[in-house]
Amino acid sequence: MTTIAVIGPGAIGGTVAAWLVQDPALAITICARTPLDDLRVETPSGVITARPKVLTDPALARPVDWVLVATKTYDVDSTEPWLGHLVDTHTRVAIIQNGVEHVRLFSHLVPAERLVPVMINLPAARSAPGRIVQSRHGIIAVPAGQNGDDLVALFAHTEIEARAHADFLSQAWVKLCGNCAAIVPALTLRATGPVWSADLEAIVRGLAEECAAVGRAEGADIADSVVESTVANARNMAEGSTGGSIHADRLAGNRMEIDARNGVIVRLGHKHGIATPMNQLLVTLLAASGSPWVK
Ligand SMILES: NC(=O)c1ccc[n+]([C@@H]2O[C@H](COP(=O)([O-])OP(=O)(O)OC[C@H]3O[C@@H](n4cnc5c(N)ncnc54)[C@H](OP(=O)(O)O)[C@@H]3O)[C@@H](O)[C@H]2O)c1
Repeated sequence: MTTIAVIGPGAIGGTVAAWLVQDPALAITICARTPLDDLRVETPSGVITARPKVLTDPALARPVDWVLVATKTYDVDSTEPWLGHLVDTHTRVAIIQNGVEHVRLFSHLVPAERLVPVMINLPAARSAPGRIVQSRHGIIAVPAGQNGDDLVALFAHTEIEARAHADFLSQAWVKLCGNCAAIVPALTLRATGPVWSADLEAIVRGLAEECAAVGRAEGADIADSVVESTVANARNMAEGSTGGSIHADRLAGNRMEIDARNGVIVRLGHKHGIATPMNQLLVTLLAASGSPWVK
């Protein structure tokens, strides 16, 4: 029996946990901040339910084979009490978050050789504790190697398509290029498609081009078509649609992953001497917008 603890049973953690519970060879424990009784996930192929063990007190946690962390990036440090009880010398820790800094964010908490960064493409939303809608097929990418292969094997009996990549860095940066333009609807609080203009296109294109330039300086392979598809997605964003999680979080008055999504482009741009004026401007404006949280 492989033991797995999922820290953060929100949209992503809850969906991943519900899928993994379907495999009787895996023993899943949920590590929650807000209590929940069970999981009910509406997936593209039907509803799956699960009633895994749920802990809300880190002191009750015991070491496991795998920890999957699925909190927002700004909650990393709050996972320390959980990790202190769940991780022993053999435990591996997979970080299922957006952004490109998975390992850096956890390197003060877990030895780097046991951290596994995970890029996930799986649109999901939580309406209440344990109540989640997964709206499209899910894809997971991890770095090639023993840790990555072992993580992929955990998903063998799920409908989440997990794959190890020799060039994980590019996978993460390509996703960030797609995500970075979501700061526009987060600022304007409306879909970009219906108000599309040449000036708006220049802003979206600038955000994505800066991201691609910094990603390439970091060593990622990012085709020009990635920028074009970011622009096309913003142009096609339909009236009334939520422009991604930053937009949704701002509407809900929640904290936002601005640093992991756009601040990182500015910070790493500085490191490489690459100007990122569009990302810097919009991060600054969002910070000044009166939103309580911008991290
Ligand atoms: N949702 C998507 O479609 C999607 C797609 C791709 C990538 N991502 C990325 O996946 C990551 C997770 O996003 P999400 O949408 O799943 O967020 P979410 O729905 O807000 O879930 C985060 C969960 O973490 C929990 N949490 C926070 N701190 C905790 C702690 N110290 N101990 C235990 N639980 C804790 C939260 O608890 P509460 O229940 O108390 O809030 C919540 O259940 C983010 O980096 C996001 O950008 C999301």
